[in-house]
Amino acid sequence: MKLHFLTALSVIALASPAFAAGDAAKGEKTFRMCKACHAITGPEDKTIVRGGRVGPNLYGVIGRKAASEPGYNYGAGIKEAAEKGLVWNEENLAEYVKNPTEFLEKYTGDGAARSKMTFKLRRGGEDVAAYLASVAKQ
Ligand code: HEC
Repeated sequence: MKLHFLTALSVIALASPAFAAGDAAKGEKTFRMCKACHAITGPEDKTIVRGGRVGPNLYGVIGRKAASEPGYNYGAGIKEAAEKGLVWNEENLAEYVKNPTEFLEKYTGDGAARSKMTFKLRRGGEDVAAYLASVAKQ
């Protein structure tokens, strides 16, 4: 009986893992993989990380509404998610970078939603999210 109770508890714990905040220092290293497509450009065009222009500027992305970087030509899927209220936080950004198209499909409930971001980060999403959060506080 007691054993069953403990088993039930561990099943609950596995089913809803609490989001563990990432390590910004590790995330800074992980961001090297993002640089091919993303720059981090602060206020007054200050270059924080020089990067590509395939994807939008990621300065201040945590707390920002999805698909809201001025002048960037977003895909239909992420615009649909933004209309449905998607605002980036560390948790959903970590989830997004694992598989952007799958994230948009789930978020919008539209199985045809596609992301223009073709890159998938296998691990360390929470670290890169913590890094992006730390950058904008400078
Ligand atoms: C191969 C190029 C490429 C790489 C590498 C890449 N991205 Fe992207 N990213 C994109 C593109 C393109 C978009 C625009 C997506 C769209 O419009 O559907 C995007 C969008 C995003 C967005 C949404 C931003 C917004 O304004 O709503 C976030 C967050 C993001 N990327 C984070 C990352 C992170 C973190 C990494 C590294 C782990 C990364 N990306 C690596 C191309 C890339």
